[in-house]
Amino acid sequence: MAHGFHIPKVYPRCLDSQANLNLDSQGFRPMQTSRAWFYRKNQAAYDLELGHQSMPRPDELGERDILVAIEGVSLNYRDLVAWKNMAGRGVDGRVPASDGAGTVVAVGPSVTQWRVGDRVAGCFFPRWQSGRFDLSHHRFDLGGNLDGMLREQVVMHEDAWVRVPAHLDTLAASTLPCAALTAWYSLIARGGLTKDQMVLVLGTGGVSVFALQIAKHVGARVVVTSSSDDKLMRARSLGADEGVNYKAHPQWSEQVWSWTGGRGVDHVVEVGGPGTLEQSMKSVAGGGHIALIGVLTGFGAPTTSLFPLLARNVTLNGIYVGPRDEFVRMNAFLEEHRIEPVIDRVFPLEAAPNAFAYLASGQHFGKVVIRIA
Ligand SMILES: NC(=O)c1ccc[n+]([C@@H]2O[C@H](COP(=O)([O-])OP(=O)(O)OC[C@H]3O[C@@H](n4cnc5c(N)ncnc54)[C@H](OP(=O)(O)O)[C@@H]3O)[C@@H](O)[C@H]2O)c1
Repeated sequence: MAHGFHIPKVYPRCLDSQANLNLDSQGFRPMQTSRAWFYRKNQAAYDLELGHQSMPRPDELGERDILVAIEGVSLNYRDLVAWKNMAGRGVDGRVPASDGAGTVVAVGPSVTQWRVGDRVAGCFFPRWQSGRFDLSHHRFDLGGNLDGMLREQVVMHEDAWVRVPAHLDTLAASTLPCAALTAWYSLIARGGLTKDQMVLVLGTGGVSVFALQIAKHVGARVVVTSSSDDKLMRARSLGADEGVNYKAHPQWSEQVWSWTGGRGVDHVVEVGGPGTLEQSMKSVAGGGHIALIGVLTGFGAPTTSLFPLLARNVTLNGIYVGPRDEFVRMNAFLEEHRIEPVIDRVFPLEAAPNAFAYLASGQHFGKVVIRIA
């Protein structure tokens, strides 16, 4: 209690001027403030604005909340979708980015899972703990309907975090909550990938490079597509068995088909969407699996018949990240195989807009990360 009021569970943000007065937006007594980036509506899209946000003091934490000093944040294509307002989501005033990791600096009185000093990464869907997806989880996605990670401090319920793999620092671990878990959930949890199978990975962005790494450590064979021969070389250095330049070979399924000896691949990591689905369907084996993940070619309808899905007895899995228990399983796998996330470039907190612009340029291979502390 403070001034006779309950401490709000959603901690209010404040303007710089209020921060200087050490009052939060509801006039509470002094609180800590955290630097944070915010989406600000600007005509059809959003600007990014650096400001301050009120944070509770350690003795004001909710019963099962923990206060984490964020050290690394990674960006995903989804953050560009929000920033450029490609999907018409209202994120004005929201803190961007679903993915962050850091160190616990304070715990609420009833917290049992964490201690000060533990290294943790946040869950994209904090309430999706296990099992099937429930549509209600959409209301609680970080960097969407809830404030995200692009700030110095985050307070969330203790169940909204997982332990960082022992071999990774928190900067590297910040790449895991969305991109890595999506790849894992697609190939392992939903796809049941085994070592004698073949995987097709589209492009060399965050999800796809993790899918490549996970598939290779399972023992599968992997073919990667890219717009860049240099990136295909880098994919080979991570173990890719074959590469196809999708710009030079728009009908790239022909290469995939011949590489698999006319059988097709067992799994497609489909991050392209309507513009790539036709080639993906032509690449998949009978009884194979397509993990439908992405919208890199837009949100429209596919321009091709879906009949090949039937004719090939394909399983089509819609994927939206994954639950916390799979995040924990994945981290154990990453730790066992000592898998290092591929970080293309690191930006300082103050240069977050440059990190967004760099991701949008498509020059990256793997992940783009922002160092917070
Ligand atoms: N459903 C989910 O849970 C989920 C989770 C994460 C991501 N996603 C979606 O998955 C997609 C990838 O996300 P990300 O964060 O990994 O993106 P990212 O890191 O920005 O990667 C983008 C890369 O995709 C490749 N690409 C672009 N257009 C392509 C095309 N037409 N065909 C094949 N590859 C293409 C490019 O690779 P090259 O430079 O090698 O050509 C580009 O660098 C996005 O649509 C994102 O929204 C969905």
